[in-house]
Amino acid sequence: MDSSSKALLKAFRKERQGNPPFWFMRQAGRYLPEYKQVRASTGGFLDLCYTPHKASEVTLQPLDRFDMSAAIIFSDILVVPHALGAGVRFAEGEGPILVPVDNAEKLAALQWNTHLLEPVYEALRITRNALPGDKALIGFAGAPWTLACYMVQGKSDKDFASVRAIAMKDPAFFINLLNLLTRCVTQHLKAQIRAGADVVQIFDSWSGVLSAEEFDAYVVQPTAAIVASLKAEFPHVPVIGFPRLAGVKYWDYAVKTKVDGISIDASVPLEYAKQLQDVCVVQGNLDPVLLAESKQATLAQAKRIVNALGDKSFVFNLGHGILPHTPIEHVAALCAFLKG
Ligand code: CP3
Repeated sequence: MDSSSKALLKAFRKERQGNPPFWFMRQAGRYLPEYKQVRASTGGFLDLCYTPHKASEVTLQPLDRFDMSAAIIFSDILVVPHALGAGVRFAEGEGPILVPVDNAEKLAALQWNTHLLEPVYEALRITRNALPGDKALIGFAGAPWTLACYMVQGKSDKDFASVRAIAMKDPAFFINLLNLLTRCVTQHLKAQIRAGADVVQIFDSWSGVLSAEEFDAYVVQPTAAIVASLKAEFPHVPVIGFPRLAGVKYWDYAVKTKVDGISIDASVPLEYAKQLQDVCVVQGNLDPVLLAESKQATLAQAKRIVNALGDKSFVFNLGHGILPHTPIEHVAALCAFLKG
């Protein structure tokens, strides 16, 4: 089957379809017992990301169960800082820990070792070969701002205010870091496309903590540069942006970055989402907390979303990743509804 039969790609070609294509952020993960089994048989989380046949296996697990329209390669946004030598590790129950890169000297010491990312590309090639012809394969990367948050802070944080403070005190350092990340993310996405990704998504999980001026400088401009470089080489590969919690700034983001699709979080009103459909494909936005808590309320909300957005180019997704305690039965009921 050629790429024309993939429902996800049809949405980007603005072809009308009966039911919307769908996939879920974090669709491979701890809510699935078969994921936990593979995870338990592998040293650390990063070892799983860098073991191609295992990464490919967990990528395909949710499709075997729920028949989504697309597989998203199992990896993490922090493989880019890892390949830069930022000392990424995942401590059990704590989330990611990195060696902070918070000044020009530490920035100058980073080295970009692309060979460390070869297993990610191999996992994509294996998955490409195993995937049915009507399913799309999604590659992804973190956006420069969100990657910079983790690199400068060295760990997760509630609002990354200290990262913003460092950017205000030492703008030259911070812009150099964003520029480096922009180059690395662009390369990483291009390599994923060469390895078989049909679509790529740029995750900017922390774009919601910024002022309007910072949003333009740290989110819009780097993302626009990435999109322009991808489009010059791969004009037909759709790029989805996810500036999570961007609120009224979603519009500017869609217009100025020239992404083909915009993934919206659950706080975005459907009326506003409809307006975004004039600019690009909209993807979203069921609340993952709702999905975890109530099957009935999930189905009612999914109906509202599809009714509001389904008659224009639309990809059903969640507003953020599936939570680990989500009952599998809720996910199954949602997928049954979406398949019609
Ligand atoms: O969506 C998918 O199924 C593909 C896989 C994927 C993972 N992380 C696997 C993962 C994707 C697309 C990501 C993106 C990612 N990683 C983001 C952007 C999206 C978001 O959630 O905002 C961010 C910020 C990260 C960084 C990260 N990775 C954190 C903060 C954590 C710890 C929190 C947690 O959920 O444990 C991770 C770990 C991680 N990445 C897990 C998975 C399945 C859980 C680790 C495990 O299985 O032990």
